[in-house]
Amino acid sequence: MANQSNRMTVPKFMKMKTDKKKITMLTAYDYTMASMLDDAGVDSILVGDSMAMVVQGHDTTLPVTLDEMIYHAEMVGRAVKRALTIVDLPFPTNHLGVHKTIEMAGRVLKETGCQSVKLEGGAEQADVIQALVSAGIPVMAHVGLRPQSVHTMGGYKVQRNEEVLLEDAQSAESAGAYGIVLECIPNDLAKKVSEALTIPTIGIGAGPHCDGQVLVVNDLLGMPSDYVPRFVKQFANLKTVIHDAASEYIDEVRDGTFPAKEHSFK
Ligand code: KIV
Repeated sequence: MANQSNRMTVPKFMKMKTDKKKITMLTAYDYTMASMLDDAGVDSILVGDSMAMVVQGHDTTLPVTLDEMIYHAEMVGRAVKRALTIVDLPFPTNHLGVHKTIEMAGRVLKETGCQSVKLEGGAEQADVIQALVSAGIPVMAHVGLRPQSVHTMGGYKVQRNEEVLLEDAQSAESAGAYGIVLECIPNDLAKKVSEALTIPTIGIGAGPHCDGQVLVVNDLLGMPSDYVPRFVKQFANLKTVIHDAASEYIDEVRDGTFPAKEHSFK
């Protein structure tokens, strides 16, 4: 049983903004990675629908299904002892009507042990956010660049419409969202939005003025990806580490160096 007093909760997460403590968030999609990130002390772990791209190898986030999200989120939910856990509602779950969305988000909480959901949208999702929150399901909203709307937005582009962004963010807050991801918006605009809200803003490609930051863990670790967005900082280069380890293993098996005496039984 997790030490509950140590556990990050939605109210504690929200209080970090009032306390002016920067919030950290990373994605994870399995037990091992989630355990390591939790041990490292990250404040929140998101089972993102970026899984469709970095785990499943698709070009967009659209193909991942609710059952697949639940399968991975259950591993993360079981691994995490301290961080706040968040699960993305995959496309087009939150557009299927309020009752269907409650049913699906309810499955996420019941079957994964995770604590909250994230959905893409702001003003036009206010009724859904309100209904989920009143059903006891904490919601994080996601505005600015919304990857699930990549075809409508015409690509992964920086979003600069101040009026739309402010309206989306404020509507999400009024509807009861406990936090909001700001993706790919100019620094000044992210600052304005962050100052206008009482709930924490978590930025990705939104500059330093957000209340917290999120990165896709594969990007942070420098795991294989053909495209590295400008906002990503690779804090490690696991692609090279993994390539070199695999090459060494192949060579040692081929030349008979591995397995050696110490790896074998008498
Ligand atoms: O799916 C995801 O990983 C996300 C983050 C990039 C915020 O939504």
